[in-house]
Amino acid sequence: MPTSYDAIILGAGAAGLMCAARAGQRGKRVLVLERAEKPGKKILISGGGRCNFTNIGAGPTNYLSANPHFAKSALARYTARDFLDLVESYGIAWHEKTLGQLFCDSSAKQIVEMLLEECAKGDVTVRCSEEVTSVAHGDGFAVTTQTGTYTAPALVIATGGPSIPKMGATGFAYDLARQFGLKVVEPRPALVPLTLGGEEVLFRDISGVSAPVVATANKTGFAEAALFTHRGLSGPAILQASSYWRPGEPLFVDFIPERTAEWLMDAKRGNPRSGVRTQLREALPARLADILADKLGLDGDLGNLPDKALRSAGERLKRWTFHPNGTEGFAKAEVTVGGISTAELSSKTMQAKRFPGLYAIGEAVDVTGWLGGYNFQWAWASGVAAGDAL
Ligand code: FDA
Repeated sequence: MPTSYDAIILGAGAAGLMCAARAGQRGKRVLVLERAEKPGKKILISGGGRCNFTNIGAGPTNYLSANPHFAKSALARYTARDFLDLVESYGIAWHEKTLGQLFCDSSAKQIVEMLLEECAKGDVTVRCSEEVTSVAHGDGFAVTTQTGTYTAPALVIATGGPSIPKMGATGFAYDLARQFGLKVVEPRPALVPLTLGGEEVLFRDISGVSAPVVATANKTGFAEAALFTHRGLSGPAILQASSYWRPGEPLFVDFIPERTAEWLMDAKRGNPRSGVRTQLREALPARLADILADKLGLDGDLGNLPDKALRSAGERLKRWTFHPNGTEGFAKAEVTVGGISTAELSSKTMQAKRFPGLYAIGEAVDVTGWLGGYNFQWAWASGVAAGDAL
C-alpha cells in the first residue's frame, strides 16, 4: 500500500468524500483518512435516516458567516440542481418534503454508497479507523495516524465541526488550522434547542406542545413550528433562530402569525362576551393558550376590558419575549456556527491564502447553513471547489 499521494483528505464525511471523488476523477492520487469505522456517519443519521441531501432553493442568503459573500462562488459553481443530477444519475428516488427540502425516498445509505462509488471511479483510497493524530509540514505534508505516516503536497481539512461529540465529532479541524496559523472564528452550537430558566420555567410544564410561530433572534425570523420541551424551546423555528441567537439576548416569538396585534380588538367588537382565554384557545393549542392567558392576566369579558389593554396584549402575543439562559450545547447541536475563518481561504478553491497546499472545506469552515439541506449543499459545493483545484 503506497504512502505517498497527490492529496490527502482528512475526514470521510460529506465534504471529504465529494472532494476526493472530484479530485480522483481528474486523475489525482487521493487518500482519504477517516477515524470512524465507516465513512459518512453523519450522512447516515441525517434527515431521520433519509438524508435531507440538499435544498433546491439554496443560495448565499441561507448561510451564516463572518463574511456572508464568501460562499457565493462555490454555491454558484455547484448548485443544488447539480447534486440532484448526480442523485438521479444513480436512480436514487427522492421527494421534496417541504420548503425545498429534498430527501431520499428510501435511505441515507444510498447517498453514502453513491459517494463511495464516485470515489471508486476516481481510484480514491478511503481508509477508515485511521485517526489522524498529527500533521507535519516540511517538503509537503506528513500525516500520522496510529497505523503509519502518509505524505502528499496537498492536504484538505474536512473533519467537520464539534457538533454531536458522541458520534466522534471533535474540534480537530480548528487545532490543525491554528497549528498552521489560520484564524478560527469562535465556534458555537447552532440549530440547537434553547433552554429556559427563571420565571420562564413555567413553559416547561407544556412540554410536548407545538404551534406554528415566527421565531426571531438578532432580527432574523423563521416561520415554522416551535416545540416546548422539558428544558425549554425547540422545533424548526427555534432551531433556525438559535443559529442567530447569542447568550444574553432575547428571543422573540410571534404566537399569532396569522393575526394582527388588533386581533383582540376585532374580537371585542364581534364577540364582546367572549374572553381573552377563549380567544387564545381558538388560535392556539389549549395548554399553550392557558399559560399565555395566565401571563397576560386579563380576566372577564372582552367588552369590559380597556382597548389599550387588549391592544398591548395583542402586541405582546406578536412579540413574546423569551430570555433563554443557554442552549443544549454541542451535544444536541446539529451544526456549528464559526470555524476556520473564511478570510484565510480563497472562495474559489478553498485553499489557504497564506499556506499553499492546505485546503479546508465543509462544516470546518465558518459557513453554516439553515436547517433544511443547506449544510449538505455547502459540503458538496465546497468539496467540489477544492476537489477541482487540487
Ligand atoms: P462530517 O462531520 O460529515 O465529516 C467529518 C468527518 O471527519 C467525520 O466522518 C469524522 O469522523 C472525521 N474526523 C474527525 N476528526 C478526525 C480525525 N482526527 N481523523 C480522521 N477523521 C476525522 N445537514 C443537512 O444538510 N441535511 C440534513 O438532513 C442534516 N441532518 C443532520 C442530522 C444530525 C443529527 C446532525 C448532527 C447533522 C445533520 N446535518 C444535516 C448537518 C450535516 O450532517 C453536516 O453539516 C455535514 O455532515 C458536514 O459535512 P462535513 O463533511 O464537513 O463533516
